[in-house]
Amino acid sequence: MPAYDVLIIGAGLAGQRAAIAAAKTGATIAILSKVHPVRSHSVAAAGGINAAISPVDDWRSHAYDTIKGSDFLGDQDAIEIMCREAPAEVMWLEHAGVTFHRNQKGEMDLRAFGGASMKRTAYVADITGQALLHVLYEQLMKYHEVIDRYEEWFVTSLITNEGACVGAVAREIRSGKIETFTAKSVILASGGAGQCFQPTTNALICTGDGIAQAYQIGAPLMDMEMVQYHPTTLAENGFLITEGARGEGAHLLNSEGERFMEKYAPNKMELASRDVVSRAEQTEILEGRGVGPDKQGIYLDITVVPRKRTLEALREIVNIGKDFAGVDITREPIIIQPGMHYMMGGVKTDFNGATEVPGLYAAGEVACVSVHGGNRLGANSLLDTLIFGRRSGEHAAERALAMQMPAASDEQLIHDREMIAEILARLKSGRRISEIKQELGTTMNRYAAVYRDEAGLQSAHEVVRRLKEEAKTVYVDDKGAVFNQDLLGAIELDYMLDCAETIVVAALERKESRGAQFRTDYPERNDAQWLKHIDVSRNGGDVPKISYSEVTITDWQPEARTY
Ligand code: FUM
Repeated sequence: MPAYDVLIIGAGLAGQRAAIAAAKTGATIAILSKVHPVRSHSVAAAGGINAAISPVDDWRSHAYDTIKGSDFLGDQDAIEIMCREAPAEVMWLEHAGVTFHRNQKGEMDLRAFGGASMKRTAYVADITGQALLHVLYEQLMKYHEVIDRYEEWFVTSLITNEGACVGAVAREIRSGKIETFTAKSVILASGGAGQCFQPTTNALICTGDGIAQAYQIGAPLMDMEMVQYHPTTLAENGFLITEGARGEGAHLLNSEGERFMEKYAPNKMELASRDVVSRAEQTEILEGRGVGPDKQGIYLDITVVPRKRTLEALREIVNIGKDFAGVDITREPIIIQPGMHYMMGGVKTDFNGATEVPGLYAAGEVACVSVHGGNRLGANSLLDTLIFGRRSGEHAAERALAMQMPAASDEQLIHDREMIAEILARLKSGRRISEIKQELGTTMNRYAAVYRDEAGLQSAHEVVRRLKEEAKTVYVDDKGAVFNQDLLGAIELDYMLDCAETIVVAALERKESRGAQFRTDYPERNDAQWLKHIDVSRNGGDVPKISYSEVTITDWQPEARTY
């Protein structure tokens, strides 16, 4: 049975950064991931990473913008840490080999991004996540003597002993072999749950595995109602069209050719925070000023950006426009719409990544520190993965080095083997995974999107509860052991349904509008009653239990939020 000081689940930026930080302490480490690390969803982060590195910038300004962006739900102690540590982290990346874009003077260039009071986003064209991920993977290789990589292993459960997390059960996708991994500390870095929504900018792998696994062993989730809709996703299929486009000067236009953001955010226009821009677009669409065949889109006009600059700094979306919409974005507007992009909520952690379950840590999108509160600023997610990935790695290793290896029984392994055998033995009478997934995604996108209300959220909850029952009999065609993605799909479906239920329950609970949660039946922010986090825990049964926790305020008192 493999045993490690630190077991890291997920090998995107948060997981790899945690592994590198933990390796420096001398701890033994395993990093386990259901896809090859460079295919992790961090690869999709496009526009850049925020840090106050300009001589005229200050981390406090970054912190204030982040707090305002969060609609004052973010925890200010954690935000201070993230923004203060950002410049050194970006320099560390540079020294590790990331080829950040440089200006004519040879300095690191910074681009404008939404909700920021000045240019603060370092970038590599519009493939920043990909550039970072590849450099981190090279760095990871340097530690091959202390970091064991289990690539294409799928975690089926976390293991507990006397209330502490002591490892995980995982299945090798290539062979079907299933094993218990014992660990003194476990770090979840397995990303978000965007696949609960259709369409989404998120990869097929973003099925909320870590969120659901933590929830199942009693770790509270926090801010789950806060789901980010990105203002510019391709109308046809939900692909991300980077905010970098608006950062470079692109305009949003309605069917009357108006730059409608003038009405909603006269100071920041297209570069207001994402929740504000997405809501403005949706309002234009609902009021009949949408564009496209079904009038459900908005024009993003990138032709106002000099062509040379677009070809140099936005080349990925030039390709996406051509390949997936048949549009040359340097010559004509492209049709976009708000689309599900990011989960602000996740497994509740402190600013060292520790959850409320001893031995269990979380970092990146799977976690809720909460640095994003009600709405994340663009280019703060790459930063979050690195800062809190590193801190989790350091703290998880420190904890591990001070203790004996715990006992992890094979009980969970036996349970998971039987669970897999039961799924494979099912008869053809159940619904298909893809059907349930599609119904879940379209339901969430209809009722838990930019605008929400009680009746819609109640409908979503009823659908999710029914789908949970139907998921118990889903049928898988592939009965084999080797690369059985069908089987993994059945397990992922359960994870997604747990995540979806906690999103809906938390959105029903929050009877106000704040950040990404806009309740048409409670259209105002209500600090007197709702300046608090909603925590959701499982606590034994299959019914989510709600509690609250305080928002940490340091220097910035809540105020009206305008852009
Ligand atoms: O639009 C974008 O480039 C996305 C970046 C982010 O979500 O941070």
